[in-house]
Amino acid sequence: MTDEAIGSGDDLDEARRQWSELNEMLTKAQQAYYGADAPTSSDEAYDEAMRALQALEQRHPELASPDSVTQKVGAATITDFAPVAHRQRLLSLDNITTDVELTTWLARSGEGPWLCEVKIDGLAINLLYLDGDLETAATRGDGRVGENVTHNVRTIDGIPHTLRGDDVPAVLEVRGEIFFPVAAFEELNAALVEAGKAPFANPRNAAAGSLRQKDPTVTASRPLQMIVHGVGERDGLDVTSQSGTYEQFAAWGLPVSPLYKVLETPEAVEEYIAHYGEHRHDVTHEIDGVVIKVDDFPAQARLGITSRAPRWAVAFKYPPEEVNTKLLDIRVNVGRTGRVTPYGVMEPVVVSGSTVEMATLHNTHEVKRKGVLIGDVVVLRKAGDVIPEIVAPVVALRDGTEREFVMPTHCPSCGTELRPQKEGDKDIRCPNSQSCPSQLRERLFALAGRGGFDIEALGWEGAQALLAEGLLVDEGGLFELTAEDLLRTEIYTRGAKKQEIEDRGEAPVGGVKDGRVLSSTGEKLLANLEQAKSQPLWRVIVALSIRHVGPTAARALAQRFGSMDAIRAASLEDLAFTDGVGHVIAESVKEFFDVDWHVAIVDQWAASGVRMADEVDESTPKTLAGLTVVVTGTLPNFSRDEAKEAILSRGGKASGSVSKKTDFVVVGENAGTKAEKAEQLGRPMLDEDGFRKLLEGGPEAVAGAEA
Ligand code: IVH
Repeated sequence: MTDEAIGSGDDLDEARRQWSELNEMLTKAQQAYYGADAPTSSDEAYDEAMRALQALEQRHPELASPDSVTQKVGAATITDFAPVAHRQRLLSLDNITTDVELTTWLARSGEGPWLCEVKIDGLAINLLYLDGDLETAATRGDGRVGENVTHNVRTIDGIPHTLRGDDVPAVLEVRGEIFFPVAAFEELNAALVEAGKAPFANPRNAAAGSLRQKDPTVTASRPLQMIVHGVGERDGLDVTSQSGTYEQFAAWGLPVSPLYKVLETPEAVEEYIAHYGEHRHDVTHEIDGVVIKVDDFPAQARLGITSRAPRWAVAFKYPPEEVNTKLLDIRVNVGRTGRVTPYGVMEPVVVSGSTVEMATLHNTHEVKRKGVLIGDVVVLRKAGDVIPEIVAPVVALRDGTEREFVMPTHCPSCGTELRPQKEGDKDIRCPNSQSCPSQLRERLFALAGRGGFDIEALGWEGAQALLAEGLLVDEGGLFELTAEDLLRTEIYTRGAKKQEIEDRGEAPVGGVKDGRVLSSTGEKLLANLEQAKSQPLWRVIVALSIRHVGPTAARALAQRFGSMDAIRAASLEDLAFTDGVGHVIAESVKEFFDVDWHVAIVDQWAASGVRMADEVDESTPKTLAGLTVVVTGTLPNFSRDEAKEAILSRGGKASGSVSKKTDFVVVGENAGTKAEKAEQLGRPMLDEDGFRKLLEGGPEAVAGAEA
């Protein structure tokens, strides 16, 4: 670790310590003031501490947890609920996050078995049953004193008002977690927004908000659920293990998780953790880790507890998928088709293992729907590999300096007035498609891509540099770029002293300009451009950025018409008649060629030597004419693209999914569901050898030779 990292870690630790201190002091003060009616601090001291806590959370948004007093708005919510002293303290859990910590903890905790269960991201509740009747339900509070939410808890489905059976204990404190199922949470937020109200930041807040309602009918309208995870004071509970407790609880009608497991070995515990790490989102509620408990009660007693948490249990926490960060700005991006999309710029944070500082906000409607303001602390979510999303603002942390996002009226890239393409479109666009630098940059980047001209040395930054230097007005001039031109950019050049070059006897491509020569990327760009001129027609079509025309449609057009001229001259019907094209694409192609500057690009490319017709390849026999072939899994000697090319060049159709219409399925290594489907549908299957025979001699060559 570097000194700096240690330093910032210390800062955060110190901030965390201050936070706990302030939060505890304020919580106590609130309880004393509102609960016991005996203030423990002056209003001034209280206000000052609150301001300090808010400032701390502004500086370290990651500290602003829902447990913070800053999130408990106003006195009303607090006065509404009377304090309840728990009979036994509600403990916390120590957290671990690494395999090493897990191994150490398991070794210290004894021989097992361990009860593993998911850690529910909700809020803790303590239910007191006296002679089997639900007496009080209280929130965790500070662990000793919570808030009485009995009326609301009584409305929750699945929490028995009376325990079932005739062996119920005289006293029983049941601990568990109240949560909001994820699917229902999404519906609730949609409904809140629809009604013009602020949405909840996450299911946990929704659960808390729904439970802390003055009016129990509101709680009743929310689909809250509970799962038990422990026991406090008891008199008449005759069990000797955690799992025994759950079994007994289930028999009395209490909601026990179906996901817990009693495991005998550390390896099995590791597997359980890995499993739910992968299947985190397959559970109906949010989980933020796994809780591992020594199952046996006598063993639990021997291990004992520390000041706040048991030594016999631990929480293995998964990397957080939601963090708080500051939304510094909302800017707009102009895409390839001119669509204007707002995106949030945030203070960089690590979430789900990667650093995030930007997230799309899609359109103005979405910004409104989320209710985010520039300057807000926001909840940022990145679930696994999913694109990061700004979920909601943390409204309680607003200080009045936040401002609303206003969609610009003019393109930030070229200044043209923005407008929807059609009446009623949600998106607005920059209509200057020919020369808006932003659109042009995206088009250049796309045309250089692997599905287009495949110009490796032209990336997003390269495109940006060529435009910034005014070397291109549109993509028409791309193949006219010279070494001289590239020497005007930074990205394609390197500085070198003329003398040095002469001394080394080098003769740089493009010569030397102001002491600069082309960099290897610069040289590569020129070579790439030269090669790109003889790319097959379908790639040239893709490179034109015609709406709806991707590689599949482009291949179909190229195959049917053979040249750009023929495509240009084709009638709408003729285009639409092409297999794999259809009306929408045909119309789009027609519209494209109706625009003068589009035609000018094609002409300019042709004049620069870009090949505009496919050579009619008589050498490859059309052995697969009229056949549909699916390739699945990995073949030893064909890449995906090569296999596809081999099929297409022989007049066949390469499809991605198996159906009754599939003629052959080529099955490679690690083929999955497609092979199963082929089996089910009884489609002929071939290995690589069979595939080669098929390519060479058509269906007759493989008759009866299926894999
Ligand atoms: S056991 C003595 N089990 O996590 C052990 N807690 O971070 C007490 N939680 O306060 C807790 N799921 O509110 C336990 N399966 C689970 C849990 C769980 C969620 C909560 C609980 C606790 C907090 C500690």
